[in-house]
Amino acid sequence: MTEPLWTAVDHYIDGLLVPPDAALDAAIETSTAAGLPPINVTPSQGKLLHLLARIQGARRILEIGTLGGYSTIWLARALPEGGRLITIEASPKHADVARANILRAGVGSLVDLRVGLGLEVLPRIAAEGGGAFDLTFIDADKQSIPEYFSFALKLSKPGSVIIVDNVVRDGRVIDAKSSDPDIQGIRRFNEMLAAEPRVSATAIQTVGAKGHDGFAIVLVTRNI
Ligand code: DHB
Ligand code: MG
Repeated sequence: MTEPLWTAVDHYIDGLLVPPDAALDAAIETSTAAGLPPINVTPSQGKLLHLLARIQGARRILEIGTLGGYSTIWLARALPEGGRLITIEASPKHADVARANILRAGVGSLVDLRVGLGLEVLPRIAAEGGGAFDLTFIDADKQSIPEYFSFALKLSKPGSVIIVDNVVRDGRVIDAKSSDPDIQGIRRFNEMLAAEPRVSATAIQTVGAKGHDGFAIVLVTRNI
């Protein structure tokens, strides 16, 4: 469900705090034109990711689920000189749109876009031994969130932050009997998080132009 009032308040916030930006606006326009699903984070959520990465002082960022590169650009713009963002996209078509958007935004030298299934690309990233990520954003298919989170943990160090999108899904997350594999994936992740001794975490509900959903915010507290 999306309430018109939630969308109106998002527009109010964006009008004050998230000014129009040619590269970000183009990322949305080209994604729409190419027929990508309109499931990118909203402007104020993109800025939240950007601010969290800056607050964290992130130098190495991992994103699972690039889509058209909208959140990728927000996150890459938080990196200092010499920083690096690896983003994984399963759809070659989405990746093509994202690549152009990332280049247009001028962050191409910071972003390493890997095309392939997350569960195939992540073991390769782990094997490369490039060091821990300071921040990971998980926003790909929901069935595999538990597995993505396991990899994110493996690729973290104490002090790393992991953010997971879509953990509320219009409140459907509380339906233990849901036959929706996305909901079951999210529930499995939430339970995993609750039982994980190496993290401190919360989940926060959001409303806005994308309806009612939420983010999990995870701080890695103990050695992996
Ligand atoms: C869907 C996926 C997302 O990552 C999101 O933020 C919203 C919706 C979806 O697959 O429906
Ligand atoms: Mg999402």
